[in-house]
This record gives sequence, C-alpha cells and structure tokens, in this order.
Amino acid sequence: MSGTNAEWFARALAVIPGGVDSPVRSFASVGGTPFTVAEGHGAYLVDVEGRRYLDFVQSYGASLVGHAHPVVLEAIARAARGGTTFGAPTTGEVELAELLCGLVDGLDQVRFVSSGTEAVMSAVRLARGATGRDRIVKFDGCYHGHADALLAGGGSGVATLGLPGSAGVPTGAVGDTLVVPYNVVPELDHTVAAVIVEPIAANMNLVAPAEGFLAQLRARCDEVGALLIFDEVITGFRFCRGSVASLLGVTPDLWTFGKVIGGGLPIGAFGGRRAVMDHLAPTGAVYQAGTLSGNPVATAAGKAVLELVTDADLLELSARAGTLAASLQDALRSGGLGATVICQGPLLGCFLDETPPAPPTNYDEAKALCGNGRYPVLFHHLLERSMSWAPGAYEVLFPSLAHTDEDFALAAQICFEAAHAISSGTQ
Ligand SMILES: Cc1ncc(COP(=O)(O)O)c(C=O)c1O
Repeated sequence: MSGTNAEWFARALAVIPGGVDSPVRSFASVGGTPFTVAEGHGAYLVDVEGRRYLDFVQSYGASLVGHAHPVVLEAIARAARGGTTFGAPTTGEVELAELLCGLVDGLDQVRFVSSGTEAVMSAVRLARGATGRDRIVKFDGCYHGHADALLAGGGSGVATLGLPGSAGVPTGAVGDTLVVPYNVVPELDHTVAAVIVEPIAANMNLVAPAEGFLAQLRARCDEVGALLIFDEVITGFRFCRGSVASLLGVTPDLWTFGKVIGGGLPIGAFGGRRAVMDHLAPTGAVYQAGTLSGNPVATAAGKAVLELVTDADLLELSARAGTLAASLQDALRSGGLGATVICQGPLLGCFLDETPPAPPTNYDEAKALCGNGRYPVLFHHLLERSMSWAPGAYEVLFPSLAHTDEDFALAAQICFEAAHAISSGTQ
C-alpha cells in the first residue's frame, strides 16, 4: 500500500465528511489524525505505512473471532461465488434464522436487516404497531443506533462528541421518546409501547445493571402491557452462544442483534415471540423492508462464526477477559495512573482518575469519569506503543477469540509503559 496515514486521511477529508464514515472512527475527541487500515489479521491491524497494532476495537465488536478468520473467509467466498444478492428468499437466511431461534429461548422468529440501527428502528415500529401505542422509554447513555427517535441521551459517538442528540431530528420525532436514568426502574403508564434497554450498557463505557433492575423493569412493563426490548447488538452471542438474557434470568419481548451475527459483514436482526412478529408485513400491518436484508454473504459469514464458536469458547473468553481487566488495572496503577478496569463477560471498561474511581452506575457518573480529559492522553501513549483502543472514552474494549495470552500480556506491558510515561512526564 503506498502513501502515508496523513496522505490517506487528507484524501478522505476531501471527499468524506470529517474523513470518516462513522463519527466514532474520528479522532475528534482525542486529537490527532486517524491511521488508515490496510488490513487486519486475528488480533492485529496493519496500517497503510505497514505498522502493526494490537487491536481492541475489533470493528466495535463485530469481529468476535478476530480479523480475516480463514473459516469465515471461506464461507464468504463460497457464498459470494453463488451470487451476492437476489431479492428472493435464500437458504442462508433460513439457516441463520434457525440457528438464532434455536439458541435463544423465547425467540420464535427473527427478521434480518443490514445494521443494528435498522434492527432497533424496526423493533420500535413493531412494538408501536403491536401495542397501538406511541411512547418509547429509553435509558440515558444507552446507544441504540442513529434512528431519529432514539438518539436522545445516546452514548457512544453522541457522548464522545458531547452532543445532546442530533441536529436534523425534528421535535416531533422525539416527542414520544422519554429518556430516564439507567439502573432506576421508571414509572410507566398505558401509553408506553416499549422500553428499550442495553441489558449490560456498553456505550457509556461499561455500566452493569444493578441487582434486580432488569427483573423489576420486566415486571413494570408487564403491569402496563408495554413491550420490553433488549438491545443486544453488542451483548448478543458474545457472552454465551445466545442471548445474555438467559444469563441475566430476564426474558424480553423483543431482541435486537447485530455485530457478531454477521461475522464482520453488514447485518442486524430483530425478533421475538411469533404473536408479536406476526404484526409484521406481509402477515400483519407493520411495514418493514430491505433490498439487502438477509443478504446471502452476510448470513453465511454469521453462520460460520456461530458454528465455529462454542459456549465453552465464550465462557473461557469471559474468564480470560476478567484476568485481563485485573492485569491492565495493575499495570496502569503500577505505572502511576489512577485507573479502574472492570469486566462484564468479555467486555472491558477502563476508567481513569487520580484516585482509582468506583465503576459508574449511570450515565452521569460515566460522564464525570469519561469526560475528565485523561483518556485522550492514555489513548495516544497506547497508540504510540502500537496498541489500538477506540478513539473515544465512552467505548468498551473488545478482546476477541483471536487474542492470545501473549497478546494480553503485551497489552498489560504497554499499559504499564504508557502509564509510567504519563506519570513521570516522559515520552
Ligand atoms: C447497543 C447498540 N445498538 C445499536 C447499535 C447500532 O448498530 P449499527 O452501528 O450496526 O447501526 C449499536 C452500535 O454500536 C449498539 O452498540
């Protein structure tokens, strides 16, 4: 690949707004110029200058088995050789739907779309259509994609850029959205169609559900006949080979999935009980559609990942992530930085403060830690030492199944060196 990172980014800036196709990729909140990826293999990325990075972004969690896994590549190639899109039913979508429904208790039917955003948009419309109600309740700091009605109080890039929501969203589009604090069960009434929640919040950095929060939310929804939607675009098929709902002991009415189930290709899905899904066209009156929905290449990649990975692999990844969290925290603290690194399943959250902070329980607490200006400094020291974390303090770390114990040890070593350089004022 010829050209430097600076040259490629200058070209990008000329023809792509901000040089990126998704704001979370920009370095707006950390400063500097993003590197341009030439290729990725397993746990590593290589930029256009040939520099190799230990990658904890993993396409924001889409690459559960690491980049360019040979089994996934073979499935993609095989599917693509047979044609990439038809606008007619295919075997691949049926097989992936069967797989998902077989792995998630309570998921009778699922419909594929092309992104997590679309999955959430569609699930919300379905919930409104099925209940005949308009109001939606979401939790502050949870991110559910960039649909108009759900950007208010959004985490992820909305939080990173310090936006209250988005310009261009008409007042009417959010008039029926109520934003409430995470980990507090809201009062609901009979006007609420659905409550949507990240069962483990991973877009305001990492915030765990408090004991009883999800069960009480389930009960409150049942009291008023509102549907409970678990947005599992991040958590789905990552904590176990199925829904994190089964681990948390609370079953929603609808799920949204994405990321892992597309094996690194564009996909999303939403589903639930047949009685609710029957409201979708052509059976029912809720319209929802997509030219590339259930795409044969994406569904083949997703199926390859879900067949490759066992429950034992995912349990082991979670256990190893716990050890990694402890070792990164040790390394940062021994290097002289106040840090707390927490872990939920295979996801890691890193919080920086002078004295090691307590993990946040809601968006306000997350903002106080993530907005304290410490992350950009650490981010650049890590990047200089060839480790890639997300360029935003509100994102989690995504260790993949491709990360070896040696990669984890290297990550801890880099954290120690970066923390030491920061605390001693050296480079
Ligand atoms: C929980 C959650 N829901 C929805 C989305 C939107 O998914 P996509 O970026 O595929 O549109 C994301 C994206 O990160 C997410 O984390």
